Amino acid sequence: MAKRSEIYKCEICGNIVEVLHGGAGELVCCGQPMVKMEAQTADSSTEKHVPVIEKLGDGKVKVTVGSVLHPMEEKHYIEWIELRSGDKSCRAYLEPGQKPEALFQMDGDHFTAREYCNIHKLWATE
Ligand SMILES: [Fe+2]
Repeated sequence: MAKRSEIYKCEICGNIVEVLHGGAGELVCCGQPMVKMEAQTADSSTEKHVPVIEKLGDGKVKVTVGSVLHPMEEKHYIEWIELRSGDKSCRAYLEPGQKPEALFQMDGDHFTAREYCNIHKLWATE
């Protein structure tokens, strides 16, 4: 059963969807079940993908990918960054050539973040 905020991908056409309201049914695309994406949370020694959250004050929160800036090239880049706090969620979509970072306005005590690399898939702070 799909749960809210889970992310699923179609291995055939590349559709990626996020669940807004979980249901009992199986998510299907191109005639086969979609694959639930599990976020990775630990960087290897080479490329860095785990989002870094920085509180700037006045509700401003900056999220950077990652501890060493991730490439933003045509063939390899961060497609989006999401900041979450409690029941709130905010997402910024990025393009090649931009910085791998996003600035959000969100109140909260505890933040988490997710990001999607077009090659290395889904990553999260926890
Ligand atoms: Fe990557």
